Parts: sequence; C-alpha cells; structure tokens
Amino acid sequence: MATGRRKITVIGAGNVGATTAQRLAERDYADVVLVDVVDGLAEGKALDMNSAGPVVGYEPSITGSTNDYSLTAGSDVIVITSGLARKPGMSRDDLLLKNTEIVGSVTKAAAEASPDAIIVVVSNPLDAMCHVALDKSGFPSERVVGMAGVLDSARFRAFLAWEAGVSVRDVTGFVMGGHGDTMVPVVSNTNIAGIPVTELIPQDRLDSIVQRTRDGGAEVVKLLKTGSAYYAPSAGAVEMVDSIILDQKRVLPCAAYLTGQYDVDGLYLGVPVTLGAKGVEKIHEVSLTEDEKSQLEHSANAVRELVDVMAAKA
Ligand code: NAI
Ligand code: 2OP
Repeated sequence: MATGRRKITVIGAGNVGATTAQRLAERDYADVVLVDVVDGLAEGKALDMNSAGPVVGYEPSITGSTNDYSLTAGSDVIVITSGLARKPGMSRDDLLLKNTEIVGSVTKAAAEASPDAIIVVVSNPLDAMCHVALDKSGFPSERVVGMAGVLDSARFRAFLAWEAGVSVRDVTGFVMGGHGDTMVPVVSNTNIAGIPVTELIPQDRLDSIVQRTRDGGAEVVKLLKTGSAYYAPSAGAVEMVDSIILDQKRVLPCAAYLTGQYDVDGLYLGVPVTLGAKGVEKIHEVSLTEDEKSQLEHSANAVRELVDVMAAKA
C-alpha cells in the first residue's frame, strides 16, 4: 500500500539487508522496499516483517520485490547491500569484479527509479563499491556515501568501554581510512567523557584494541564459520539513514569522495562527515599525528589499488 510517508529502498535481502529493513521498519518513519534477485526472498522476508508490526508496534509497510525496481520509485534513500561473499577458489580480484557487476547493475536500476535519492553503499569491498555506485548512478558525490566507519568505530568504542570498565555512551572515538586491514583507529582523538584515552588505558592495551578493531570483521567470521557480521553493520547503516531522513546532521565516520582533503584527491575514503538531508554536507579535516597521517596515506593507497584494478578490467 502506497502511503504519504518517506521511502527507503534496501537492495539485498540477505543478512545485512534484511536486518537493516527490520531496524528501519521498527523506526516507523518511512515505507521500506526490500529487493533481492532471488525469487521470493524479499517478498517472504517482507511478509514476515509486516506480520511483526502489530506486535512490535509499527505500520506493516514493507514491500518485497524480486528485481522489480518500479516498486522502489521515488525513494529518498537507497541502501545497497547486495553482493557475494568470497567463495573457496575465488581471489579478492574475482570478488571485486563480481561485486562490481552486481553493485553496478542494482545502482543503475535503482538510481533510474529514484533520481533524487541518497545512496548508502554497504557492499564490499566498501570503498571500491562506492566508486561503482558513484559512476553508475551519475549522482553528485555528496549523494553517494559508504557505511564502514560507523561499524569500525562502534567496534573500537565497545572494546575501549570494556577495557576501561565504563559505559560505551561516554566513549568517543572514530576510525578513518579504508574498510580493511589498513583502517586507522584514530587514538589521538579518542576520549572517555573528554579524558584522552591514552590517560586511562595503557599503550600496550590500546595497541591490542586497535588491532582487534582492524580484525573485527574477521573475528566474527571466524566464530560464525559461515557468513559475516550483520547486527552491527545494519545498525551502522541505519544510524546513517536516520541522520539523512531526519536531517540530524550527525558527524559520523563515512566513506566520502575526497577532493583534496587529507591530501587525497578523487578517492572514497573513511573520514568524519556531517550527514544530513542533502547527504554528505561537510567533510571534516581533523588534525592527526604524523603516524596517523602516514597510516591514512597507506590506507588510501590500498583503496586506490582496488579502484585501479576495477578501472583496468572495465
Ligand atoms: P548475504 O549473502 O547474506 O546477502 C547478500 C544478498 O544480496 C543475497 O540475498 C543475494 O541474493 C543478494 N544479491 C546478489 N546479487 C543481487 C542482485 N543483482 N540484485 C539484488 N540482490 C542481489 O550477505 P550479507 O551478509 O548481507 O552482506 C552483504 C554485503 O555487505 C557483502 O558484500 C558484505 O561483505 C558487505 N558487508 C559490508 C559491511 C561494511 O561495513 N561495509 C559490513 C558487513 C557486510
Ligand atoms: C565486517 O567488517 C564483513 O565488512 C564486514 O564485518
């Protein structure tokens, strides 16, 4: 049933996509359209979520769609979670090329149906997939943004809160750079209720928390044995959607297209941005230590390598 509410499309009804749709439905501020290529998957999950509405207390306004993008028309936000996970025998480059194809085709179809939307990319490899979404949508870069920094920072903050024995609400910290082994947890700007974290946690423990943050995704995969994290990733995506739909202007670490900031030009990289109704409304340049600057440069080079692989095969 069409309503006068805002509209959010979530592409990919797998673990991250379905959990994102469920969290959005529970917000109850917009209609949600869930799309997948697998016949009946999105419709089945949408029906199941709609049936939870009367119990949980939200409108049953989730629509499932098997590849019919006409149902997504006029969306305010498009969240892209479709993609493959790496399978045995598949190289990183194989995965990159397969997901380039998937993210490219879904972006094209969704952007045509919703030319004014803001795209939140979640599919991996995240920073490279942002380039694909930017290219295939033809949108201005402020309307194509990637989710990874919120997730990586959430892991960082949870580990710090455990270590210090404090509420995670009082831990402020963020992770910059690409979503991968080279990400940069920015210790110099991390504090607990304004107290620099270096004054509260010994350096060797901080070093191990930084490493655990970098390995955060892999730690979950190792435990699950099949599939990867989705509770925290969907929470991260929805925090970004909240900020866009409600024009909250949250300052969140997101993959944004840099045009010279941090000495990086023409590349998506995780940085703090103001996220609002217009998408990326401001990219913040925070001061970093010399070591953090060189880690960020290293991370940007790693992202650029992937983008170059895509460009070479295009
Ligand atoms: P999943 O395998 O559970 O779901 C992916 C879904 O995409 C499947 O249902 C599949 O049928 C669908 N799909 C494939 N091709 C499609 C197409 N052409 N059109 C529509 N749907 C299509 O995977 P999961 O766990 O949901 O992860 C999704 C993606 O998000 C992966 O690339 C994963 O690596 C990435 N991810 C990124 C994170 C981040 O921080 N940026 C965090 C967690 C996951
Ligand atoms: C994660 O960090 C798989 O990118 C995903 O959990």
